[in-house]
Amino acid sequence: GLPITVRSLSEAIGMKTGELAKRLLKETNQLYGNNSPVDFDTAALIAVEKNIELVVKRQKTAEEILIEEFEQMATNVDPEKLRPRPPIVTIMGHVDHGKTTLLDRIRQSNVAAGEVGGITQVIRAWSVMHKVKDPETGEKVIESPITFLDTPGHEAFTKMRARGANVTDIAVIVVAATDGVMPQTEEAVAHARAADVRIVVAINKVDAPNANVDRTRRQLYNLSLLPDNMGGDVQFVETSALTGQGIDDLLDAIVIESEINLAGELLADPARPAFGTCLEGYMTADEGVMATVLVQQGTLKKGDILLCGANYGRVRSMQNDQGVNIEEAGPSTPVLVTGLGGVPNADDPFYVVEELTTAAKIAEARETKDREKTLNRFAPVNVENFAATK
Ligand code: GTP
Ligand code: MG
Repeated sequence: GLPITVRSLSEAIGMKTGELAKRLLKETNQLYGNNSPVDFDTAALIAVEKNIELVVKRQKTAEEILIEEFEQMATNVDPEKLRPRPPIVTIMGHVDHGKTTLLDRIRQSNVAAGEVGGITQVIRAWSVMHKVKDPETGEKVIESPITFLDTPGHEAFTKMRARGANVTDIAVIVVAATDGVMPQTEEAVAHARAADVRIVVAINKVDAPNANVDRTRRQLYNLSLLPDNMGGDVQFVETSALTGQGIDDLLDAIVIESEINLAGELLADPARPAFGTCLEGYMTADEGVMATVLVQQGTLKKGDILLCGANYGRVRSMQNDQGVNIEEAGPSTPVLVTGLGGVPNADDPFYVVEELTTAAKIAEARETKDREKTLNRFAPVNVENFAATK
């Protein structure tokens, strides 16, 4: 059969070949002609932006079946046992529009100043405790936890999405009022919509002398992001990550979004064995393999047998976002763990399993699957064999 090409993908997702080639160049740093092959993951990623899911119609391998069966069993959640969990919020937007500075404000710390070149290098995640105002007295009463993910641009989010692991409940789209809506703002909105996550808009840099809030609002309305007084249900908050203006309102908006529009969805069973998603993995000289994982269901405990992508091991230590050693972590908690035998990838799913032998078996199946995928990067996928579904 034929590989996916720029031409066939263009037909499948209804994007002009020229536009597609440009988008591919941005994604992969390679030049594409109409007949150039496109690897499946990249094709799927771009298709998602058009709200199209690409699926390959072919026989599953024995490893894929094994992994699927395991995952089905491992993620089986009892609806009776579900309890409320904090929302997981991703900050997205165009480069330099202030995502990291905004998060810093929220955490009252200063990561942006310490970052190499001021550019976000890895995914980071934090839990914050926001006190919500009582509408009657205006006093801060209920504590409402929120988990934030800081992604480098929108990339991590889209990759996760392309693999079907939706770790985000709410996307805060940050738009600098100085620049207004930019290409990556539009992409972020498209991705958030494709992922079916709620959107809250933060119009940032309102303190800047060249800020134009009205123009920025109009541009956002043009993307069909409409506030309630215009018949929509998107919350708009004006912020300055620099002065702190509007930060509290943004957190209030996130809590309102969770309670009103996501009521009944933000649930997890804290009592079951944990599963979730790896946000980043790396190797250190002192501690060996480190991985930031986000617990989505259940409670992760020190000593648990952790299977993460194609790697596994017993959790040797666990740190929360403050760098404090902890014994266990419940739903919506990001933690740094040690003890894995190898470095997992961002987006790898993780599961706590009973037996080391299970972990070893599934890890091996994944390794085989990943190896085959690498070998088959441009493997023939017959055009008739890949279907686009809306
Ligand atoms: P990437 O991670 O590289 O995509 O950027 P980012 O969106 O995280 O932006 P970052 O927080 O690094 O901010 C970019 C620049 O804008 C920095 O120089 C910030 O100091 C500045 N900045 C961020 N927020 C504001 C704001 O509210 N007002 C003003 N005047 N400047 C801001
Ligand atoms: Mg940043």
